[in-house]
Amino acid sequence: MSAVDEKNIAFWNELCGTILATQLGIKDNSEASLKKFDDWYFDFYPYLYDHIPFSKVSGRNVLEIGLGYGTVAQKLMESGANYHGLDIADGPVAMAQHRADMLGKPIKASQGSALAIPYPDETFDFVVTIGCLHHTGDLALAMREVHRVLKPGQPAIIMVYNALSYRQWLRSPLAAYRRMKKPDFEWSNADPRLRNAYDSNRKGVAAPSTTFISPGEAKQYLLKYFSSVDVVPRNIGQDFLPARFIPRSMANACFEPFLGLDLYIKCIK
Ligand SMILES: C[S@@+](CC[C@H](N)C(=O)[O-])C[C@H]1O[C@@H](n2cnc3c(N)ncnc32)[C@H](O)[C@@H]1O
Repeated sequence: MSAVDEKNIAFWNELCGTILATQLGIKDNSEASLKKFDDWYFDFYPYLYDHIPFSKVSGRNVLEIGLGYGTVAQKLMESGANYHGLDIADGPVAMAQHRADMLGKPIKASQGSALAIPYPDETFDFVVTIGCLHHTGDLALAMREVHRVLKPGQPAIIMVYNALSYRQWLRSPLAAYRRMKKPDFEWSNADPRLRNAYDSNRKGVAAPSTTFISPGEAKQYLLKYFSSVDVVPRNIGQDFLPARFIPRSMANACFEPFLGLDLYIKCIK
């Protein structure tokens, strides 16, 4: 287990989404409370329905990596997937198991790292990992691990943070310009202030490790392993000034194709 893994175990045991749940007035893990959380989540990220093929997972072997509050897990289970969940921390694994118990679904949720996925080669028909691999400390290895456990011809959806989003251009235009001109495959850990702008816990502490990747870097690197790679930027936040004056759906439609915070990458093995 890597040093970053150890730090991630401690940090992510507080479920990602805990601050949001508090803001929504959620105080327990009852069915009604989790539904409130999930409704907010899919309302805020409606394009998840475009990227995750829920209607096609029934009876298929599906692996989700990085579970957080378990919203995607629940939807995959409800859609009839033969669901396997993997997370570095106990808390998210327990939450996925709790959701499965409430649904009466037999699932396999285990604690482990995306850097050493505890499954044999070519196990899964679909792998989905939203907002996780960029926290592992070794994004390249994590992406190769996703490739390893996928069956040939099958898809993965990987969401990672965009190194060329509006947030990066506003913070450091010169660095963004250089990166656009010359891809950087080092994917080193960002400084704490930038990490904090993306993920922090209730104490205001930033996630231990966050790396950023540009659309071009993602495509170039993943095409070494996958037969096809499609990268779509998504998500414009309220810290982007023009987005404060128009509805979020319009801000997303106008700006996310060039400046979105998150990259949704569909790779076919
Ligand atoms: C930002 S949260 C995203 C959670 C969820 N997918 C969502 O969209 O809300 C990142 C998740 O990745 C998990 N994670 C971080 N490093 C990991 C690793 N090396 N292996 C597996 N999971 C990891 C964390 O425990 C956390 O649940």
